[in-house]
Amino acid sequence: MPVITCIEDLKRIYKRRAPRMFYDYAESGSWTEQTFRENVSDFDQIRLRQRVAVDMSGRSTATQMIGQDVAMPVALAPVGLTGMQCADGEIKAARAAEKFGVPFTLSTMSINSIEDVAEATTKPFWFQLYTMKDTDFVSRLIQRAKDAKCSALVITLDLQILGQRHKDLKNGLSAPPKLTPSTVANLATKWRWGLGMLGAKRRHFGNIVGHVEGVSDAANLGAWTAEQFDPTLDWGKIAKIKEEWGGPVILKGILDAEDAKMALQVGADAIIVSNHGGRQLDGAISSIKALPSILDAVGDQVEVHLDSGIRSGQDILKAVAMGAKGTFIGRAFVYGLGAMGEQGVTTALNVLHKELDISMALCGRRRIDELDRSVLLVPEDFGGRWQ
Ligand SMILES: Cc1cc2nc3c(=O)[nH]c(=O)nc-3n(C[C@H](O)[C@H](O)[C@H](O)COP(=O)(O)O)c2cc1C
Repeated sequence: MPVITCIEDLKRIYKRRAPRMFYDYAESGSWTEQTFRENVSDFDQIRLRQRVAVDMSGRSTATQMIGQDVAMPVALAPVGLTGMQCADGEIKAARAAEKFGVPFTLSTMSINSIEDVAEATTKPFWFQLYTMKDTDFVSRLIQRAKDAKCSALVITLDLQILGQRHKDLKNGLSAPPKLTPSTVANLATKWRWGLGMLGAKRRHFGNIVGHVEGVSDAANLGAWTAEQFDPTLDWGKIAKIKEEWGGPVILKGILDAEDAKMALQVGADAIIVSNHGGRQLDGAISSIKALPSILDAVGDQVEVHLDSGIRSGQDILKAVAMGAKGTFIGRAFVYGLGAMGEQGVTTALNVLHKELDISMALCGRRRIDELDRSVLLVPEDFGGRWQ
């Protein structure tokens, strides 16, 4: 059993065990990958203030996100095709999150369906919605999420059109993988993954196949999704979806203060400062750099969360001390899942928790609500002087 001490350890094992096509799918950004890289490297520019001789007994990382208790200010972000990283991936990640006490968000583009995850868990999870042209399908999805007792709807706003990731095109990404000579050669070295997949509950997009007329297998699904994302999505439509849902709504993909103000106007319960993990607009600012201006604009009126680039508990600490109420992790949990299934996601959460807890203590803070800007050393030009 390898000794896992950090998220990077999980990534190394994941790379060995997962088919190349799915590793590349997760570990890529769009076009030149500038935003993908800067999401991570911009966290490094912020430093932590070490404080000493402060009683650090009785510490806790517990807090709340949209009024729900969480063991630490972290939720699992919606990640499409999670069930291709590892058999029944969404079920395993949801179970790990539930046991740890953090929210799990199921993607519209998941392999396990809403119903599969509801059946395999005991507490409500969150559902992420992509708005599609087929409004009947969207309404049915919303109803299914309600029936499954999902406790929040996360509406993703930064994917009306798909950013290009070169490797996905070159690898011919599909679920399940198409058997070309190079895929077969690669899969032959991934016996653990293959054995798991033989027993998997599903190998297609579980929220879609069988729920949309004309989509019964993966062959015509790719074409359907490429055509289906709604390019006409606007704030009016978002307000209507919010009404239809009737519960807590989190708007994901806000990177600009003006959009944050619009989110406020449509009555979002929270927003996620996010650039989709650098997978959409290459050249966009990193989430952590965008956070201060968004907090200045709306931070006292709506809960602000952040994702993109979190790979350690120190990153979580930096985002929260800057003013985020919570964070989301994408790749950090996918690495764990692809490396070791449910146990791997639990390990990822444990690693992040330990890093957050110890870093908080060394900053002289015992509780999440004691974290504020005074914990951080932020370069004067961190936000950048953009024109
Ligand atoms: C492989 C992969 C698939 C993703 N699929 C979705 C998705 O289906 N819906 C969505 O809203 N965001 C999706 N995202 C974006 C994540 O929700 C999140 O914003 C991003 O992963 C955060 O960056 P991080 O991976 O650096 O933590 C995906 C991200 C990855 C890496």
